[in-house]
Amino acid sequence: MASSPLPASDANSPERLTLIRPDDWHVHLRDGAMMRDVLQDTARQFGRAIVMPNLKPPVTTTAQAVSYRQRIMDALPGGSRFDPLMTLYLTNDTTADEIVRARASGVVHGVKLYPAGATTNSAAGVSDLSKCMQVLATMQEVGMPLLVHGEVTDPVIDIFDREAVFIDRVLAPLRRDLPGLKIVFEHITTSDAAHYVAQSDGPIAATITAHHLLYNRNELFKGGINPHYYCLPVLKREWHRLALVEAATSGSPRFFLGTDSAPHTRESKEAACGCAGCYTALHAMELYAKVFDQVGKLDKLEGFASLHGPAFYGLPKNTETITLVRKAWSIPSELHVGGSAVVPLDGGSVLEWQLA
Ligand code: NCD
Ligand code: ZN
Repeated sequence: MASSPLPASDANSPERLTLIRPDDWHVHLRDGAMMRDVLQDTARQFGRAIVMPNLKPPVTTTAQAVSYRQRIMDALPGGSRFDPLMTLYLTNDTTADEIVRARASGVVHGVKLYPAGATTNSAAGVSDLSKCMQVLATMQEVGMPLLVHGEVTDPVIDIFDREAVFIDRVLAPLRRDLPGLKIVFEHITTSDAAHYVAQSDGPIAATITAHHLLYNRNELFKGGINPHYYCLPVLKREWHRLALVEAATSGSPRFFLGTDSAPHTRESKEAACGCAGCYTALHAMELYAKVFDQVGKLDKLEGFASLHGPAFYGLPKNTETITLVRKAWSIPSELHVGGSAVVPLDGGSVLEWQLA
């Protein structure tokens, strides 16, 4: 690691790992009482986070993003230096003026494309991207990144193929029309997406979650149905997971950390129609360290977690550091969040790394 030189022989099996403070380039903080609690976890791990706008109602204007940011700042513990980076939710009605306002605000760092119906709180999302071309062209002009939930919603497309089809039907044509538009392909889950991003020219990058690096789709059905492993995009086959691990640990600046930590109450997950989302804000860096350690690539963790994201977004890297120590601890099986129970990913099991 740049910040703690290690003898070459120990570089990939150290007992302590000091990194420039990482950022989370995709997180759901929610609002109100739930936000106050999950925010503590994110602020303990990360210097900054790209905050998703899929509230009810969604954050569609700069004014709403500014006031959501203020609610987050007001909920932060005294002395916290956490910096929430806000986003707008793209709709069929978003205007080019709104994009210009968002850019000028200095607090909005991306505009999120949710294909209508693709995931939690996406009903107000875009139903026809061709109607947004003026807005997207303005984003390209002012350098506002487009953050994409990359799945088609066509009901005849199998849920496991939705990301790959999105590349062909939506992403590739969009990038041909607007080659200068900065795009973050969020929470990628397939080898198709990893290869597409790795091999593309131009301003495109991808975030990868800890859960997609750790698990394949078997986890959903292990010994019975396991709703706490259900998220969108859904977990995929093992060879997709391996491609994601390869991409994340490759050192390529096109891949960086985005937890997609998405808290839902235990009740709403363990239900007849359970919600999509995994809660990883509590132990994000420990989960990522586990993956990088498993493949002997701990030396690549700092780039992925702390350097590639700010470089892509045109922001300075953080100045503080964090330290992870190799020390076993048990993930709580349940957390109390906003007065409700939330089950963290892998709740009840042991992790080998701990944030000091
Ligand atoms: C997210 C949520 O709950 O808001 N759920 C998820 O499974 N990731 C929405 C999203 O990012 O798709
Ligand atoms: Zn998300």
